[in-house]
Amino acid sequence: MKFGATRLRSILPTQLKKPAAHAAFLEPLGFDYAVSSRHLRCLNKSGSKLYEIEFREGPPVGGLALAELVNPKADSTRIVDLGTGNGIIAIAMAAKGCASVFAVDVSDRDCKLALKNVRRNHKEHAIDVLRGDFASPLMSGAFDIIVANPPQLPTKVTMPDIQNFAGPTGYEAIDKIISQSEACLTSEGELWLYVLGFLGVERPTGSLPSLFERLRMFGFHPHVERNLRRRHSQDINIQKALPLIQDLYPMSDIARNFPKVGYYEAFVIRASRLVGEESR
Ligand SMILES: C[S@@+](CC[C@H](N)C(=O)[O-])C[C@H]1O[C@@H](n2cnc3c(N)ncnc32)[C@H](O)[C@@H]1O
Repeated sequence: MKFGATRLRSILPTQLKKPAAHAAFLEPLGFDYAVSSRHLRCLNKSGSKLYEIEFREGPPVGGLALAELVNPKADSTRIVDLGTGNGIIAIAMAAKGCASVFAVDVSDRDCKLALKNVRRNHKEHAIDVLRGDFASPLMSGAFDIIVANPPQLPTKVTMPDIQNFAGPTGYEAIDKIISQSEACLTSEGELWLYVLGFLGVERPTGSLPSLFERLRMFGFHPHVERNLRRRHSQDINIQKALPLIQDLYPMSDIARNFPKVGYYEAFVIRASRLVGEESR
């Protein structure tokens, strides 16, 4: 397999001839990355390999943000990655030393790919790949961290591509994860989400409740961990969802600016169960 010496800020999309001019995020993240058309390698600060994954439809940019920003407090921290896809988040957690990770996906194809990547990184001892509807295969009350980069684009299609599209409002998967997480986390547990800004994160961008309102309804104390600007380049899925986004979220950046402005906002959110954590 051939890797280009390409940094994270220049990985999307791989077929571009001048990758440096087409960054995934406008802000740099921490680690370095090398990417080929099907594989991504994460390098730590000293340049040695932290993990390496195979992906299907373009580098997993949202997953990368969570993989970098979520840091298990101890090797014994119990982590769940909901909607694991290629397994990048789960594998990053294990690579950071976490010994107890559950990676869940509803798609058989994604579970197989996640398992292949777990084996590629020799993390079988730390990661269990489970097939199921988000947290449904898990026991309640036992986890310290739940992480998810859920499908979140709105669609009216009855059998949507569940990689990216959630349902009529875009909030369907997020709402399910929030309600399931309440029962699965310890009293000090945290839910981490990668969420696109058009949905209305701190404040509504239309008539639907914001993400923070939804989290607070279930007793979470949400906090913006990172506000990222993601280049849209030629985002086909956003284009497909645009009429619904404009209808449901008229005040959002995508409804107002796409495609004139070359990026849209994305957020990494940490929602704690502990009172007083909101403004940390
Ligand atoms: C945006 S992708 C994220 C993949 C990966 N975690 C990442 O960050 O790159 C969303 C993932 O959620 C999975 N998914 C969608 N609906 C699900 C459900 N009801 N239960 C579990 N996984 C689901 C999809 O199969 C897909 O792998």
